[in-house]
Amino acid sequence: MTVGIDKIGFFTSPYYIDMVDLATARNVDPNKYLIGIGQKLQAVIPETQDAVTLAANAADRILTSADKADIDMVIFGTETGVDNSKAAAIYVQDLLGISKRARAFEIKQACYGATAGIQMAYDHVLLHPESKVLVLASDIARYGLNTPGEVTQGGGAVAMLITANPRILALDGQSAFYSENIMDFWRPLYRKEAVVDGHYSTDVYIEFFKRTWKQYQDKTGRSLADFSALAFHLPFTKMGLKAIDAVVQGTASATKLLRQFDFSTQYNAVVGNLYTGSLYLSLLSLLSNSDSLKPGDRVGLFSYGSGAQGEFYSGTVAKNFDRQALKKPVDNLLDDRHKLSIPKYEKMYQAAMPITSGDITYDVTADQSRYVLRGRAADRLVYLDTGKSAENKAQ
Ligand code: HMG
Repeated sequence: MTVGIDKIGFFTSPYYIDMVDLATARNVDPNKYLIGIGQKLQAVIPETQDAVTLAANAADRILTSADKADIDMVIFGTETGVDNSKAAAIYVQDLLGISKRARAFEIKQACYGATAGIQMAYDHVLLHPESKVLVLASDIARYGLNTPGEVTQGGGAVAMLITANPRILALDGQSAFYSENIMDFWRPLYRKEAVVDGHYSTDVYIEFFKRTWKQYQDKTGRSLADFSALAFHLPFTKMGLKAIDAVVQGTASATKLLRQFDFSTQYNAVVGNLYTGSLYLSLLSLLSNSDSLKPGDRVGLFSYGSGAQGEFYSGTVAKNFDRQALKKPVDNLLDDRHKLSIPKYEKMYQAAMPITSGDITYDVTADQSRYVLRGRAADRLVYLDTGKSAENKAQ
């Protein structure tokens, strides 16, 4: 029996900005953003979406009624939680009508949360092969208008169903991890925007990648030659390029792995950072866009969460993997988005729900998503299922 990712769905906002427009507005050479950072477009999240609705909309794209009845664990990875106590997983479980005989909880460790969820789901399904676990990775990346981090914002959610005999990626249980108390990026309780030591964070990311990759090789005896592709947490695509360059340059695997890396960045380059979902959007990008990955090929995954935790693990492409079924719904979702001018983006950015108390009601008529945030009443978040069905659902 194998255990791994059986289904994977993605959702993001219907709005984006162009990095050339942002560069022009900020008086920066566009090539800094396009080449130096490696981002083309950036998702802008309206006030009617939050981590819960993004995740619910992502999960809605992959789950059947049978899945909803069979799921016995919902794990929600996020650092954009909607409550200091209650787990976002409980809201999604309710909105989607997932079985109440499920464990539902939230995991936080910056961009690493969903990876912890996947590892826990893997162990659970190994022990209980009939189980299905829903792992949600949902975040909104905010640094602030006119900051160096602004070009690395974004947002969205990836939903993954972890089962026995998966149809997308069979995990092989081989993993190496490392954690250390580091102040590279964090978000104090009173802030909506991250505090970041940007250049330091990129150095720590590379160091954690090199360290966990070495640990993985020592543990497994595998080398670059055993891999058909490597996928990375991509806060911005140049970050992953720096990491892969650090280990493949000058090796016989360089051409093959760098070519696959390109496929793994295509979706991230037009969405931006999803924090904990970024590695899994990159995996989705690789699997959907690579013209040569085939069943049995080994893929390495590097997960990094500031603070900091790194993990390198691996899996193989499943035997009945269907590339087109994965790709079409994502391409359609991204193609259907609307471009915002920079002033409109700034207005939308500032409209996000404040941390201070008080009732709020949003106009949800412009939001075509199935699940939306209506506002807040008596300190309760109000979510709506509009009943709109997601077109081009994943299979
Ligand atoms: P910056 O300081 O404005 O940028 O911010 P820079 O001056 O370092 O330039 C960036 C690159 O553009 C450089 O290339 C320049 O040479 C190049 P590099 O030396 O890096 O190869 N450049 C140009 N290229 C072409 N044409 C030009 C041009 N001009 C310059 N004309 C920084 C960059 C990433 C620091 C900033 O955006 C930031 O702070 N971002 C947020 C932090 C971040 O994403 N860190 C990543 C690692 S930590 C992580 O991944 C965890 C995270 O996801 C959070 C979590 O775990 O929850 C963030």
